[in-house]
This record gives sequence, C-alpha cells and structure tokens, in this order.
Amino acid sequence: MLNTKKTMTFTHKSLIRKVISLTLLALTAVMFSLPAMSVESLRGDEALNGPSVKVGKYRVKSEEGGYERNFKKQPPLIPHKVDKYRITLKNNGCLKCHSEKAYKKEDAPKVGDSHYIARDGKKLKHVSRRRYFCVQCHIPQVDSDPLVENTYENEE
Ligand code: HEC
Ligand code: HEC
Repeated sequence: MLNTKKTMTFTHKSLIRKVISLTLLALTAVMFSLPAMSVESLRGDEALNGPSVKVGKYRVKSEEGGYERNFKKQPPLIPHKVDKYRITLKNNGCLKCHSEKAYKKEDAPKVGDSHYIARDGKKLKHVSRRRYFCVQCHIPQVDSDPLVENTYENEE
C-alpha cells in the first residue's frame, strides 16, 4: 500500500515537470521564429542563422589631398588603400608613414597631437593605446550607393 502511494506521487511530479518543460520549449520556439517572420533589416528578411547575402565587390577610392571633413573633430577619412597595412600587437603598419618619426620622410600627414595623449592627460612619446587601432575610427571609402537615404549636411 505504502509502495503504491510513493510511486503515484513520483509519476505525478514527473508529469508536472514534463508539462513545464514542454511549455518552455514551445515558448522558446515562438521567440526564435518571430524575428525571422517579421523583422526586415539591411540584409533583407534573411534568417539570422541563414547564409549571408553576397557582398558586392568595391574598389577603395584614392582621393588626392584627402577628403573634406563633415564636422569638427571628425576622424578624417582615409584617402588611400589600406588592405596591405596590418595592425598587430607588435607592429602597426599605419605608423610606418604616419608616426612622428616617419611622416616627414614618407610625406604623409602626422597623426593628430591628440593621439599622443594618455587617458589621464599626460603627453606620451608613443601613440596612446587608445589610438593604436587606427581603423576603429579612420575608414577608407568605396564608390557605392548609400545603404539608406541620408540628408546630413556638413557643419560649416
Ligand atoms: C606608405 C605610407 C602610408 C601608410 C602605410 C599609410 N598611410 Fe595614410 N596617408 C599616407 C599619405 C601620403 C596620405 C596623404 C594622402 C593625400 O592627402 O593625398 C595619407 C592620408 C591618410 C589620412 C587622411 C588624413 C587627413 O588629414 O585627411 C588618414 C586618416 C590616414 N592616411 C590613415 C591611415 C591609416 C589608418 C593607415 C593604416 C591602415 C595608413 N594611413 C597607412 C600614407 C600612408
Ligand atoms: C579613437 C579614435 C581614433 C583612433 C583610434 C585614431 N584616430 Fe586619428 N584621428 C581621430 C580624430 C578624432 C582626428 C581629428 C582630430 C584630432 O586630430 O584629434 C584624427 C586625426 C588624424 C590625422 C590627421 C591629423 C591632422 O593634424 O590633421 C591622422 C593622419 C590620423 N588621425 C591618423 C591616425 C593613425 C595612423 C591612427 C592609428 C595609429 C589613428 N589616427 C588612430 C581619431 C582617431
């Protein structure tokens, strides 16, 4: 008698557990299928885990004399190709031309003075760690149609 009671409680509990986990499973399925159904982004309505849309081939533009800046303190756009210049922990390909030491010989613009200032305001002899990864802020340009309409006008 005692034995049957124990078994019954046990089956009852495991049934509840099953119902809960099935409900959670169903909820998760709904959550994951929703974005694929309704959200459209620049890559269309491709599922997040689907293959990416083929990227067009664009050539990086060279702009003699550099690009006009659009606002004060804008990191200037890069007016030349960059695919051959690597930035690693030990070596910074950009500094071979743009560093304080090299810029005259290479006839390149020197990195901004602000690039030699540490977080605490101290002036450094080398480019600050905050400015080491140049392409975080500076980017080259390609000739392509804008992805979205843009009505921005340059600051005077
Ligand atoms: C072989 C030398 C060389 C290397 C290496 C090089 N640059 Fe340049 N860079 C130049 C020269 C020369 C100019 C000026 C071009 C002009 O104005 O016509 C320039 C211009 C620029 C400008 C525009 C500055 C302004 O005031 O408009 C930026 C930004 C820049 N480079 C960033 C980079 C970054 C980032 C890298 C590394 C990914 C890099 N450069 C690597 C030679 C180089
Ligand atoms: C955190 C963003 C940031 C990073 C990283 C950065 N820069 Fe800049 N850079 C700027 C801004 C903003 C300016 C314009 C204002 C100024 O000079 O601070 C600038 C200006 C410049 C200029 C023009 C200087 C002038 O006097 O006109 C050059 C050249 C340049 N950067 C090269 C580089 C190179 C090379 C690196 C990598 C070693 C680098 N920058 C890393 C933000 C950045």
